[in-house]
Amino acid sequence: MHLTQPTVSMQLKKLASAVDARLYDQVGRKLIFTEAGLAVVSTAREVLQSFDRLDMTLSQLKGMKAGTLKLAVVTTAKYFIPHLLGDFCKLYPEIDIDFKVGNRQQIIDRMETGEDDLYVFSHPPRDHALQTYNFLPNPLVAIAPEDHPLANVAAIPLETFAEEPFLMRENGSGTRHAIEQHMADREIKLNVRMTIESNEAIKHAVMSGLGVSILSSHTLSFGGRTGLAELNVQQLPITPTWYLVHLKSKSLSVVAQTFLDYVSDTGRDSLLEELNSQT
Ligand code: PGA
Repeated sequence: MHLTQPTVSMQLKKLASAVDARLYDQVGRKLIFTEAGLAVVSTAREVLQSFDRLDMTLSQLKGMKAGTLKLAVVTTAKYFIPHLLGDFCKLYPEIDIDFKVGNRQQIIDRMETGEDDLYVFSHPPRDHALQTYNFLPNPLVAIAPEDHPLANVAAIPLETFAEEPFLMRENGSGTRHAIEQHMADREIKLNVRMTIESNEAIKHAVMSGLGVSILSSHTLSFGGRTGLAELNVQQLPITPTWYLVHLKSKSLSVVAQTFLDYVSDTGRDSLLEELNSQT
C-alpha cells in the first residue's frame, strides 16, 4: 500500500478509536484480530465490493469496455497468462489489469473472499459452487539436468524414475496435489529429497544436479528450458486442464465478460499456437 509501518499503526489506532473497540491483540510478535476487528474487516470487504459493483453498474450503463480486470492465477499459470494479456490490452487499452499470483491454496483463499473477477486453476476446489471454463491443457512433465544418465533413454519405467531423488513443490500447491494423486493411484512412492516453494527454484535445483522433478511444461516455455532435459517416462505426463473460474454467486463485470469472450474467440487459440511453437 506504499505506507510506512508507523503510518499503518497510526491509521489502525484512529480506526480503533472511531469504532470505539480494540481491533487486535498482540500475542508475542503476532497480531490477532479481536471479534470487533473481524467484524470491521468483513464490513470493509462488503463496502469495497459494493464500490466494485457500483463501478460495474456505471460502466454497464455507459456500455464501456473500461475499468480494471482483477485476475488471480496459480504460479504455473503466470508463465503464459501475461502472453494472453499483452494482446488483450492492445485491443482494449482502456482496461487495466490487476494480476495476482499464488499457489493453489492461496488462490482458493482469495476466491473465498471474492477479491478478484476471475481465477486460473488446474484443480479448482470441488467444495465450492463454481462456474468453470475449460481453458488449456497443462501437461506436467518429468525434468532432469540435461547431462542426466536418463536424459536420452526412451520409455523409462515410472518405478525407475521414482527412485531418483525428487524435488517436490510445497503443501498447498496444485502441482504437488496432481503428482501425489497420480503416484497414489499407481501405488508408487517417490523418493522425495527436498520440498521447494517455487517452480523457478526447483528448476535451478534440478539444473545443479540436486534431483529430478515434475513440473508444468509451461514453466519450460518462452526460453525456460536451458540446462534441463524433459525425460521420456512411461505413464507421464500427468495431464490436468487449466480452467478459468469464478464463484457462481459473483456476477461478472463487463470487463471480466469482455476478457472471457476474448479468450474463447481468439485469445485461447493464438496462445495455444504460441505455446506449441515453443516445444
Ligand atoms: P501450483 O499451481 O502448483 O502453483 O499451486 C498449479 C495448479 O493449481 O495446478
